Amino acid sequence: MSLQLNRNSFGDPANKGNVLSPTEAITLFQEWVLNPRLQLHMKQVAYLMKMWAAEREQEDVAGQWQWELAGLLHDADWDQWPDQHCKKIIGELEQRGVDPEIIRAIASHGPNHFGVEPVTRMDKMLYAFDELSGLVHAYALMRPGGYEGMELKGVKKRLKEKSFAANVSREEINDACTRAGVTLEELIEFIIPKQATVV
Ligand SMILES: [Fe+2]
Ligand SMILES: [Fe+2]
Repeated sequence: MSLQLNRNSFGDPANKGNVLSPTEAITLFQEWVLNPRLQLHMKQVAYLMKMWAAEREQEDVAGQWQWELAGLLHDADWDQWPDQHCKKIIGELEQRGVDPEIIRAIASHGPNHFGVEPVTRMDKMLYAFDELSGLVHAYALMRPGGYEGMELKGVKKRLKEKSFAANVSREEINDACTRAGVTLEELIEFIIPKQATVV
């Protein structure tokens, strides 16, 4: 099954600045994503994106919402239409006239799967947060205290264990960090305290 999108242009430049309202976004999210574990993953990535935009990219509130929206909806079609991931959500957002940057970020969140290269800061950070966020959460689930007291070195240890969260590609994580120009350590230290607050 190929998820290749076979295109490199997304949305209409005339829609620059167009977003879904929080209510529209949550409605779509709840209708499309029924699996609570996937919902949590998407909320975690959304929050990481928002906070990275705020703290590291100096995005204003409107910009932060764009980053958050890309995170919130990046896997929206994965639960019910896995063979159409992420073609379906991209088509939906294009139809709704959403800003091409948000659509493009979603389209490039897995360059090996969708064949779209991350270009912008938003693209690259979504790609970087996606898998690493999942690994950190898997680690929290196996720790008695969850996120409490979690340290960088523990996460790095788990990363080295090939059998731990084996579906999380270490290669993609390293590739994503390189592309984003962020060290693995910096990213993990950003993720732990942020993600601990998302329930
Ligand atoms: Fe995905
Ligand atoms: Fe994801």
